[in-house]
Amino acid sequence: MGGLSNNNTITTTTTNDNSNNKKKRRWSNFMPLIVALVVFAEIAFLGRLDMAKNAVMVNTWTKSFYYGSSGKVSASEEEDPFVGLGVGDGRSGEVVESCEDWLEREDSVVYSRDFRRDPVLVSGPDEEWKSCSVGCNFGSIPDRKPDASFGLLRVAGAATVLRSMESSHYYAENNIAQARRRGYNVIMTTSLSSDVPVGYFSWVEYNIMAPLQPKTESALAAAFISNCGARNFRLQALELLEKSKIKIDSYGGCHHNRDGRVDKVDTLKRYKFSLAFENSNEEDYVTEKFFQSLVAGAVPVVVGAPNILDFAPSPESFLHIKEANDVPSVAKAMLHLAEDSEAYNQTVRWKYDGPSDSFKALVDMAAVHSSCRLCIHLATKIRESEEKGPEFQKRPCKCTRGPETFYHLYVRERGRFEMESIFMRSSNLTLEAMKSAVLAKFKSANHVPVWKEERPKSIRGGDELKVYRIHPVGLTQREALYQFRFSSNDDFRSYIDSHPCAKFEVIFV
Ligand SMILES: *[C@@H]1O[C@H](CO)[C@@H](O)[C@H](O)[C@H]1NC(C)=O
Ligand SMILES: *[C@@H]1O[C@H](CO)[C@@H](O)[C@H](O)[C@H]1NC(C)=O
Repeated sequence: MGGLSNNNTITTTTTNDNSNNKKKRRWSNFMPLIVALVVFAEIAFLGRLDMAKNAVMVNTWTKSFYYGSSGKVSASEEEDPFVGLGVGDGRSGEVVESCEDWLEREDSVVYSRDFRRDPVLVSGPDEEWKSCSVGCNFGSIPDRKPDASFGLLRVAGAATVLRSMESSHYYAENNIAQARRRGYNVIMTTSLSSDVPVGYFSWVEYNIMAPLQPKTESALAAAFISNCGARNFRLQALELLEKSKIKIDSYGGCHHNRDGRVDKVDTLKRYKFSLAFENSNEEDYVTEKFFQSLVAGAVPVVVGAPNILDFAPSPESFLHIKEANDVPSVAKAMLHLAEDSEAYNQTVRWKYDGPSDSFKALVDMAAVHSSCRLCIHLATKIRESEEKGPEFQKRPCKCTRGPETFYHLYVRERGRFEMESIFMRSSNLTLEAMKSAVLAKFKSANHVPVWKEERPKSIRGGDELKVYRIHPVGLTQREALYQFRFSSNDDFRSYIDSHPCAKFEVIFV
């Protein structure tokens, strides 16, 4: 078919340099064969599996060969990569650039700032952490304006950062809405709704999978409560438990009855239960009281965060006193579990079988140091604001060929900065297909999850990757882990349509 159109062109050519033109045309009739041979030789020579890349190379070469030194390409050819290269054109080589390759090239606008050479700078005390996937510097660099600084004393142009692990019930300034009103740009608190959460949990600090020890104490529960006063009902709960015939060894200042000069975790290991009573019942405010109990394998009896379930290794792993009225039933449950070893064993079953995926996904967040997560947050914001510029706005982000449209999406692992490309077809624009595309991408790169070295060996899993969540970049951890879901494939499709070159984050477990 290509030949036909070409012949037509020749017969209707009646210009002065007719003969010259004819020579050229005749020569060009052999071109497909020659190009095909060259293409074949090229691929054979390189002997690579990476056919797509070769195709691009060869294609580019083909294009310049055809268009000659004059380099004159008609406007339409310049805009549409497939005019003049595809089927139905006699000048064509047999290799057609894929939509994927074209998008990869056309969408790759270079950002003005290279964070490897020009790292994110946060003014404040120097900090140590292992490594960060984006250039990240704490301290000061001569003649360099910081990107952010701690506190409200604004350094010209720098974002203001609040960082605190205290409960907002005691330090009202840590309340997110209030901190924003006071002018903080980036909030780092225990709240999973803050910009960069700083939790008490981490694999490194707590040997969560430490094996169980024999429960040798006669008292049912241990308590390490230094101060009876608190802005919740924890003292009342303690007294009500004692009234319900629960024997409690108290090592702290509150209701003190045992010598407190002991190793807390080693001591807790000898008890069936541990009173993990926080000083306030604030969402996401879960301290070492809870995590040390998990390490010790002493079932935590919790007064504290209303959403403690989100922080638990399994739904059976803790008892929750939500309000004072719950004490009698919780006391009853404790007495029952103390008597029934099989039932008790169920509550600590996660010590044998491993914690839930949702627990892993939460604690894995802390595998990346909060200072590095701050740098990633800042660098992401810097890139987002550059993406509003004209160069980025004119990226095609999709490519239509025949009935099929290819969408260019980006994805990165939570805790890392750089994005990877994935492509999806309009005929299969579903959540399931996105998951497969993400897995295929990361598998082909032999990706190692960011938490791999941090997690206890027994729950690191093998080399296979398992997707826990894929969500748009920019959500809070509360949204990402517990709230956000595309409600349907239609919902997903309309998101992709309204967000050209949409960016996602994947959480592996
Ligand atoms: C508890 O369950 C684990 C795992 O099934 C088992 O290995 C262990 O022996 C059990 N312990 C008791 C005291 O029943
Ligand atoms: C759509 O994608 C899913 C997931 O990758 C795959 O299993 C399925 O075969 C695809 N369907 C078509 C028609 O390509």
